[in-house]
Amino acid sequence: MARFKSEYLSFAPFARAMDEVESLLQLYRQTRIAKNLMIQGESGTGKTTLCLALIDKYPRVSLEERDLIPVLHVPFPAAATIAGMLETMLEKLGDPSPGTGTNSAKTARAIKLAKACGVELMLLDEGQHVQDRGKLSTQYLVGDCLKMIIDEVGVPTVLLGLPRVEMLIRVNEQLRRRFTRRLQMALGQDKRFPLHLECLQLFTSLAPALPVPLTSGNYDWDEFGRRLHAATDGRVGYVKVLLLAAIGLVFRHDLKEISPRELETAFTEEIWDAGIGPLNPFNERFEFRPLRRVGEPFEPAVPATTSRRRQENVAV
Ligand SMILES: Nc1ncnc2c1ncn2[C@@H]1O[C@H](COP(=O)(O)OP(=O)(O)O)[C@@H](O)[C@H]1O
Ligand SMILES: [Mg+2]
Repeated sequence: MARFKSEYLSFAPFARAMDEVESLLQLYRQTRIAKNLMIQGESGTGKTTLCLALIDKYPRVSLEERDLIPVLHVPFPAAATIAGMLETMLEKLGDPSPGTGTNSAKTARAIKLAKACGVELMLLDEGQHVQDRGKLSTQYLVGDCLKMIIDEVGVPTVLLGLPRVEMLIRVNEQLRRRFTRRLQMALGQDKRFPLHLECLQLFTSLAPALPVPLTSGNYDWDEFGRRLHAATDGRVGYVKVLLLAAIGLVFRHDLKEISPRELETAFTEEIWDAGIGPLNPFNERFEFRPLRRVGEPFEPAVPATTSRRRQENVAV
């Protein structure tokens, strides 16, 4: 199970994102030109894992007089304020007291440290947390501060987040101009290749790490792929959750294979407890529709502030 959890899979959008980000780094190393990129994807599509894979590949080096940090990963804290964002960045850069000083002092320190640590690539993760602050003025200020850091540090910067991270760059024109290049982490970017087959491929690429064979039961592989896509929304995170639960069942019941029946149980155990009968993609009576309605597992996320405002409206 540990081996299964720790393997990096190179599915198409992940591999392409990795390539793009690495080419930004190479361009910067060769020419000092800093280009930026925005990567959008629902939760569980592998954005943070991409950052971690990049850190693995370009790890920090401890020299006697300083740390070299080629790739700086800054996950924005929930409901990110300028101060919170700067503190996270300072902490990642090894600042001994990230909370000290005014915002402008922190900004100056972050820029100075990033240069001193030889940062060559910044990965700003969970960008939607800035947007979730709600107030446009806050978003604007944080955006301004980000813009300044990006310009002053002068290295390629990747902004990662849920699809709604779009709003953050929409309110701030200067930021928008710095992130014209976009990438999506969702499966199905290559229109020539059916989505359910891409999802099936992702699933079967995990098969060698499984303790027993995987079978499609009474379904042909094409249909199995469609069911799988409905069960995971094509997100690598859910694919792994499903298989991990199925592995658990194999060990618990001493099974010889993983079939749709195990996946049906795994789906209700790990993804959606109300997913029974026609609402379970591995059940023969499944309705074959995306599980995106209110209360369903892939209901599109709304920012916290919007739902609060909605509730307030209801109260009024
Ligand atoms: N390329 C990958 N190979 C293997 N597992 C992955 C890969 N990408 C994501 N995962 C797994 O999927 C889950 C969700 O990934 P994560 O990177 O946290 O998604 P996001 O940041 O987009 O919400 C994690 O448990 C992670 O281990
Ligand atoms: Mg993440």
